[in-house]
Amino acid sequence: MEDLIRVENLRKEFPVQKSFLDQLFAGKEKGFVHAVDDVTFGIKKGEVLGLAGESGSGKSTTGRLLIRLLDPTSGNIYFDGENLADKSPKEMQTFRSKMQVVFQDPNSSLSPRMRVGDAIGHPLKIHTDLGVEERKRKVMELMERVGLSPAEFLYYKYPHQLSGGQSQRVVLARALVTNPEFVVADEPIAMADVSVRAMILELMKELKEEFDLTYLFVTHDLSTAKYICDRIAIMYLGRIVEIGNTRELFDHPHHPYTKALLAAVPVPDPTQRRTEEIPRGEIPSAIDPPAGCHFHPRCRYATEACSKGRPPMREVSPGHFSACILD
Ligand SMILES: Nc1ncnc2c1ncn2[C@@H]1O[C@H](COP(=O)(O)OP(=O)(O)OP(=O)(O)O)[C@@H](O)[C@H]1O
Ligand SMILES: [Mg+2]
Repeated sequence: MEDLIRVENLRKEFPVQKSFLDQLFAGKEKGFVHAVDDVTFGIKKGEVLGLAGESGSGKSTTGRLLIRLLDPTSGNIYFDGENLADKSPKEMQTFRSKMQVVFQDPNSSLSPRMRVGDAIGHPLKIHTDLGVEERKRKVMELMERVGLSPAEFLYYKYPHQLSGGQSQRVVLARALVTNPEFVVADEPIAMADVSVRAMILELMKELKEEFDLTYLFVTHDLSTAKYICDRIAIMYLGRIVEIGNTRELFDHPHHPYTKALLAAVPVPDPTQRRTEEIPRGEIPSAIDPPAGCHFHPRCRYATEACSKGRPPMREVSPGHFSACILD
């Protein structure tokens, strides 16, 4: 099947002011955070691709680049075969309603002064010429569908009058109201109560089928990823180090970083505990990342070769790629 979204050699660098001492000794005023460092992947129509990795690995930046909330430093982003990297802000308008994002904290993405119904219907006001009544009908219908019920009652509430689970449903409804094809869900359940998480996740799964959606699901929690994702990409310091089918990745992880991440996932059966260790040490800085494989200073299998040259992605089993030179 065709990729709905495809990125090639995507890069995002953020300029950072170096400290006085660094300026003095390195002689450079500016440095760059290599937030996304030459990343290539595709997401098929109807697929859920997970993007997992520790904090600061570049997951959110990748998600924002995909829907052009951020401009890439270089690289191409194709949506349904059209290169978004070339589009002007005006041309992007037509793509905007096809791509939506759900952020982790519903409270910061909802205006406290806007009633729930107006918030959900707002994208319709921007992207369509539907009349007031039509918009309201559509919003109510969707509210019922995502479990904001009774809709006539909740329509007039303000965000602070809702529970955490209800707020997240509002954000979901607002993302879906324009009938998007692609949704970036950036840690959509990370802030939610444990009891709410499973419900929202289940709802997202149902909505995906019903509305024919394709997701990029950003998370640092691999057990969540396992539940909802068809494939998972593991990011480390701006690079994808491994990508493959969810089942394959869990059963036969190849990259030492993936193995270590999986070892950190709690398993219900203690006899099934994995033997790999959680990676030692801090994540190095994305301003001056280690040479060669970025992970080598924390990797217990690292050899001298690992500090030289970027390890290429290679297919370790069908459709399963790893950027580790070791077998
Ligand atoms: N607007 C920005 N300006 C400068 N640096 C940024 C900006 N946004 C992100 N970064 C840096 O880019 C890197 C990747 O950040 P990003 O938010 O994509 O990581 P993440 O994987 O989503 O992390 P988390 O799990 O904590 O959400 C980090 O080093 C971050 O500090
Ligand atoms: Mg993030």
